[in-house]
Formats: sequence, structure tokens, C-alpha cells
Amino acid sequence: MHSYTLHAPAKINLFLEILGDRPDGFHELVMVLQSIALGDKITVRANGTDDIRLSCGDSPLANDATNLAYRAAQLMINNFPQAHDNYGGVDITLTKHIPMAAGLAGGSADAAAVLVGLDLLWNLGLTRPELEQLAAQLGSDIPFCIGGGTAIATGRGEILDPLPDGNCFWVVLAKHRSIEVSTPWAYQTYRQKFGKNYLNDDQSQRARRKTIHAGPLLQGIQHRNPGQIASHIHNDLEKVVLPAHQPVAQLRQVLQSAGGLGTMMSGSGPSVFTLCREQAEAEQVLAIAKEKLNDPDVDFWLTHTIGHGIQIMNN
Ligand code: C5P
Repeated sequence: MHSYTLHAPAKINLFLEILGDRPDGFHELVMVLQSIALGDKITVRANGTDDIRLSCGDSPLANDATNLAYRAAQLMINNFPQAHDNYGGVDITLTKHIPMAAGLAGGSADAAAVLVGLDLLWNLGLTRPELEQLAAQLGSDIPFCIGGGTAIATGRGEILDPLPDGNCFWVVLAKHRSIEVSTPWAYQTYRQKFGKNYLNDDQSQRARRKTIHAGPLLQGIQHRNPGQIASHIHNDLEKVVLPAHQPVAQLRQVLQSAGGLGTMMSGSGPSVFTLCREQAEAEQVLAIAKEKLNDPDVDFWLTHTIGHGIQIMNN
């Protein structure tokens, strides 16, 4: 097979708690991550040269090593030089649907798709843990993006444990087109305002920490109880992003008052989501929020949670 086309789903954070500042500059987290159907399309194709050639369609993304998708291909070449010799370079075509710098792991999902795509294209037969280990070298959210679904993440976000399929929500998603939030900025600002040292890296405490911090949400997921899940969603980064971006705080408030089970910012923002039980309820929330806000700068999406990460669309 000379090409694979993959679907790379975005994620939302049902939970993001910052436990403290790590000596390596990252933050120790407890996160619950959830894949949603909104996703990018990535094609990887053997190009008969030695090179990586990345095309991002009409998106403003760079097509060089500043793009995570490009770096993912470089990482595969560095780790599997023999496969690169055998199969040659790769054309990567990226069709963006996930908004950028939105807290939805769009760049991470694309990088995860390139790792999976090259594993397929080069017949490497890598296991999920092997792919996740490579992914962790590129970014904290990329291991999750490979398998997707519902998972709890600890460490800097790269240590994953799958959770029972929480695939039960319709999601109204909204983002200001003109507002982008840099993830490093959000974490650094949090560190300045609320930072506390985190030195405890005792692995045996990790399991306990998950239940201490995300317990009620985890119970909701365990029992597939949408109301309990939605009433325990949480995101510490709201404390820095919302005061810095008043329109996002207003959007969050409008969405929350439009109905649904619960509203939260995703990741480092600025996208905001509302969880709903049914499609009809989500459509109503969307209509009410659009009318109340009446802001042409805000894009809305109606999507739903899904139980998987990168998937082959066709080949
Ligand atoms: O790992 P990734 O490259 O996706 O992280 C982007 C940035 O987000 C990091 O450079 C860091 O500033 C911040 N970050 C953090 N703690 C984490 C994850 C990310 O401070 N656990």
C-alpha cells in the first residue's frame, strides 16, 4: 500500500487539575481526556524521494519543522532509518478542521496520525505502547491522541490509563476566530500566579492521586452517568485564561446559560464546550447561544464524543 488516509480526532478536557510545578519546567497534572468526532484528515504517501513534503491546504500552518506533523515524520525517520531507506520519503497532506491554538490538541492529533500513518506505510507493526512512547517525545497530549477515547492522564499528561468508554455526550463547541491562546503562556501564567513546587514523583502514589483529585468524575464515568460526569468537569487553566480574555469568559457564560449539562473551557483554551445528553438538546443549546451572542467572530460546532483515536478512513 502506498498511501493511507487517517482521521485524527480532537480532544476535550473533562478534567484538568495542576498539582504543581515540576523541576523540568512542566506541570504535574491529573487530566481526563475525551475524543470528539471533529477531526483533521491526514494522508501519508510514499513519494519516491528521500524527503518529507508537508502540504497544509489553505490553512495558515507552516509546512516545515515548526509543524508537529513534520516533526513526527522526522522522528520516525530517525528511529527507523532502515524503513526510510526501503520506502523513501513521504508526502503528508493535512486537511484542517480542528481550530488551531484552541485547546483541542489539533496539532497533537495531526502528529499522532503521522506516527500511525508511517507505522502502516512502512509495515513496522508497532504496538500501541511503542507508538505512545514515540509520541511522548514530541508532546504531552500526543500519546492520548493515538488511541483516543476516554482516558486519565497523569505526569505531564503522557502517562495514560484508559477509562470505560464515556462515549455518551453531544458536544456544543465554540471558539473566537480572532483569539488564540498559547499553551506555554497559559501554564507559565498559572505558575506565576498559583505555582507551587511539585517534587513528589513517587509512582506508587499516582493511582491514589487520580482518585483523590478526579474521584467523583471517575465514578460518573464508571457508572456512565452523564449528570454526574458533567457536574464534576473542571479546568484549572480557566483561572488564568478567562481573566485575560473577557470575550471567552462571556462566551462561556452564554453557553452555560443556554442549557445542557455542564460547560467548561478545554485545555489551555480558548475553546469552550457544553456537554448535552441528546442531539436535540445540543441543537437547542447551539441555537440559543448563537442568538444570545450574535458575534460573527465566534465559530460553533456540533459534535459528539467518540471512543477511539486515529483511524484509517480509506487507503
Ligand atoms: O508537551 P507540549 O509540547 O504539548 O507542551 C506545550 C507546553 O505546555 C510546554 O512547553 C509547557 O510550557 C506547557 N506544559 C506544561 N506542563 C504540562 C504540559 C504542557 O507546562 N504538563
